[in-house]
Amino acid sequence: MNCWLLQTNLTSWVLSGVAASSSSRSCVWIIVLASFLELSVAELKDIIEKDELNVKQEDAVFEAILKWISHDPQNRKQHISVLLPKVRLALMHAEYFMNNVKMNDYVKDSEECKPVIINALKAMYDLNMNGPSNSDFTNPLTRPRLPYAILFAIGGWSGGSPTNAIEAYDARADRWVNVTCEEESPRAYHGAAYLKGYVYIIGGFDSVDYFNSVKRFDPVKKTWHQVAPMHSRRCYVSVTVLSNFIYAMGGFDGYVRLNTAERYEPETNQWTLIAPMHEQRSDASATTLYGKVKNQGERERCATAVLFAWSTVLHFFCYSQVGGFDGANRLRSAEAYSPVANTWRTIPTMFNPRSNFGIEVVDDLLFVVGGFNGFTTTFNVECYDEKTDEWYDAHDMSIYRSALSCCVVPGLANVGEYAARRDNFTGLALRDEVKYSASTSTLPV
Ligand SMILES: *[C@@H]1O[C@H](CO)[C@@H](O)[C@H](O)[C@H]1NC(C)=O
Ligand SMILES: *[C@@H]1O[C@H](CO)[C@@H](O)[C@H](O)[C@H]1NC(C)=O
Repeated sequence: MNCWLLQTNLTSWVLSGVAASSSSRSCVWIIVLASFLELSVAELKDIIEKDELNVKQEDAVFEAILKWISHDPQNRKQHISVLLPKVRLALMHAEYFMNNVKMNDYVKDSEECKPVIINALKAMYDLNMNGPSNSDFTNPLTRPRLPYAILFAIGGWSGGSPTNAIEAYDARADRWVNVTCEEESPRAYHGAAYLKGYVYIIGGFDSVDYFNSVKRFDPVKKTWHQVAPMHSRRCYVSVTVLSNFIYAMGGFDGYVRLNTAERYEPETNQWTLIAPMHEQRSDASATTLYGKVKNQGERERCATAVLFAWSTVLHFFCYSQVGGFDGANRLRSAEAYSPVANTWRTIPTMFNPRSNFGIEVVDDLLFVVGGFNGFTTTFNVECYDEKTDEWYDAHDMSIYRSALSCCVVPGLANVGEYAARRDNFTGLALRDEVKYSASTSTLPV
C-alpha cells in the first residue's frame, strides 16, 4: 500500500487505501470508521501529512482530527498540537478557519497551537495578497495535496499548424505540466477518451491527412501504441465512453460529413459500426445520459459538448451548451441541462468567448481549455463551479491552441509525475523519470 486516501462521503467518514500497482488502480476500502478511531496519533499524523491524501478541502482533514479526538478526548486532546500543523491550514476558506479552527476549544487550549495559527494567518494573508508562489509548495501550511485526477490537454491547432503538445493540469495546485512526447506526431480536431487505464486519441487531422487511426497512451508506463483503426476517417469526431466501449460518432472524412458511428472494445481491439445517427453530424457532441448515447441534435449551435456520466449522476446536470460558434460569433454563453427535469437553465457567461476548446470536469469543476476566440487561439483556461454558480480563471496553459481534446485520468499510481512539483528539487532523485517541470510562467500572447 503506497498511499492513503481520506474520503468524505456525505454521511460518514471512511478511510481508504489505494493499492498502487498498475494492474489494480481501484480504490480498496481498507479502514472503516471503527478502525480509523483506533489509529494511534503517529499513524493518524502519517496519514494526514501525506500529499497523496485525497481531499478537496482541508476542512475535511481538520474534522477528521476532531472526530478522532472526540473518541477519547481526555487522552487525545493534547495531540492537537501534533496534528494541526499537518493540515494545510492556509488553503482553507478564511471564514471556516476563523470560525471553526481558530475558535476551536482544543486549539485555543493548546499553547503549541498558537504559533501554528499565527503562521497560518500570515500564509493565508500572503496567498490572498500575492497569489500562490513557488515557495508555497514547500511550506506545509500552503502546499497543495496531490490531485486525484489529472486533466490532459492533448494536441490541437497552434500557430497555424497542428501540435503534438500534451499538458497535464493539476487542479489542486492550479498548474500545468508539459508532458509532451516528442516522438508523437501532431493532431488536431481529434477525440480523446480514458478507458481502463489508457488514454485513446482518436481520429483527427494534421493539415494533410484525415485520420482513422487511434493511438493508445499508457500514462503509467508512458508508452504509446497504435490500436485498430476506425472504419472511417473522422475529424471533428464526437467521442464518449459508455459501459466499457468507446463510441466515435460523426465527424468529417475529408469529403463528407458522416452520419455513422462506431464503437471500440479494448478486449478485442475491434471497432464495430453501430446504427447510424438520424442526421449527419460533425462538430456535434455526444453525451452519456442515463446509459444512453444521445446526440445533442436539438441544439445546433453547440460546437463542443460535454459529458460526464458521474457528474450527471451527482448533480443531475449536464453542461452541454458552453461557448461555441453561432455562425457569426464565438459565444460566451453556457447552459446546463437537467435530464431529470428535462429542462435547460442558463448559467453565467464565461469570461472569454471561445469555440473549439477542450472541456472536462475535475474535482466537480467544469473546465474549458484553450480554443479560438474569434481573433486568435488562446491558452486561457477557466472553470465553472456549480456550487457558487460562478466562473473562475485558472492558470493558462503554456501553449495557445484550439481544436484540442481533453481527457481526465483518475487514480494514477504515478500521479506525482503529472502533478506540479511539490518541492523545489528535493525528492527529485526518488523519481525514476522526470522530463518536465511545472509550467509556472505566463507566456506573452
Ligand atoms: C526550497 O524553497 C524554500 C523556500 O523558497 C527554501 O527556503 C529552500 O531552501 C529551498 N530548498 C531547496 C533545496 O532549494
Ligand atoms: C514541452 O516539452 C516538449 C518535449 O520535451 C518540448 O519540445 C516543448 O518545447 C515543451 N513546450 C513548452 C511550451 O515548454
